Amino acid sequence: MSIIAMKDLNLKNQRLIIRQDLNVPMLRGKITNDTRIRMAIPTLKYAINAGARVMVLSHLGRPEEGFFDEEHSLAPIALRLAELLAMDIPLVKDWLMGGVDVSAGKIILGENVRFNRGEKANDPVLSEQIARLCDIFVMDAFATAHRAEASTCGVIDYVASACAGPLLVQELSALNAVVDSPRRPVVAIVGGSKISTKLPLLDSLSKKVDTLIVGGGIANTFLAAQGIEIGRSLYEPDLIDEADRLLHLSSGAHIPLPVDVVVAESLSEDAESTTKEIAYVDEEEKILDIGPETAALYSTIIKKAGTILWNGPVGAFEISQFSHGTRVIGEAVAASAGFSIAGGGDTISAIDTFGLSEKNVIYFNRWRCFSEFSGR
Ligand code: 3PG
Repeated sequence: MSIIAMKDLNLKNQRLIIRQDLNVPMLRGKITNDTRIRMAIPTLKYAINAGARVMVLSHLGRPEEGFFDEEHSLAPIALRLAELLAMDIPLVKDWLMGGVDVSAGKIILGENVRFNRGEKANDPVLSEQIARLCDIFVMDAFATAHRAEASTCGVIDYVASACAGPLLVQELSALNAVVDSPRRPVVAIVGGSKISTKLPLLDSLSKKVDTLIVGGGIANTFLAAQGIEIGRSLYEPDLIDEADRLLHLSSGAHIPLPVDVVVAESLSEDAESTTKEIAYVDEEEKILDIGPETAALYSTIIKKAGTILWNGPVGAFEISQFSHGTRVIGEAVAASAGFSIAGGGDTISAIDTFGLSEKNVIYFNRWRCFSEFSGR
């Protein structure tokens, strides 16, 4: 694939719009994980050092279009960017109507693109309005690249020049290596609550990878398909046949299932948890994590992998008594000599929670890499 990269262009004095994904998790107005902001910094430094006049755009959450609301304002993100770049980053509320005036080597942040009516529908009028504000449009928001919206996609039809930012280029080249010739064995770890949202992916992966480790509610549906008692655990009864089919694909991936699990009667911080063999789950219990024996078995498989794809935690890792399985999986991914890609908001959050982001895990913010790998 040949793409124009930001680094191929002369940026001096050019008005740049850099679309980034600064959609970070927030709790009561505070950023709880700034990974995406930190990842955006090298692109911004490069642009200002090259003398560009930069306006950064991003979405945050899913506000109602056409209205400003404080909860979805990028104000905390402007402050964090300013701290990380050690420079003033003004947040411009009416950037679309008022236009922007940025000097060379400076950066402003436009308020949440999703406050604009027509953003999500990729409205051509809005796209053209955005395009008028720049000479070069830089797409650096890999995690939002799967969304055809005005500020990610539509705008490109109207700009004089569009290119991929460094973050996007880096992620695409890592992805290409995996798509073209993955080192074997290939292990995919797919956790999360629902098979239904990941079904086409599981289907494709099961034909391409050597081992498919499932976790969370997805694993529960596979266990139920084997006729194993899963108590009151989250699962999808409608997809039992599908899980059964994947388990029995003649040339499909090996899908190991948990041999032990951590259960409790409820998913809460103060829930009393017990570890038990899978055959002994009670009808009142919920499976909330894989057990230590399963974690060790999966860890051995992961450490021997040539390529690892990871999306989704294998347990309710936000609560300490159900976090062990996801921690062990994450540590195995980080310790493996294999080429690893992890993606998805929860997975990134787990990687950060367990302090694995400094190790050799290459992570993507989004799942699209899996779709591409699976050829959909
Ligand atoms: C994400 O966090 O997955 C991206 O920022 C895209 O956000 P969206 O799912 O609200 O479009």
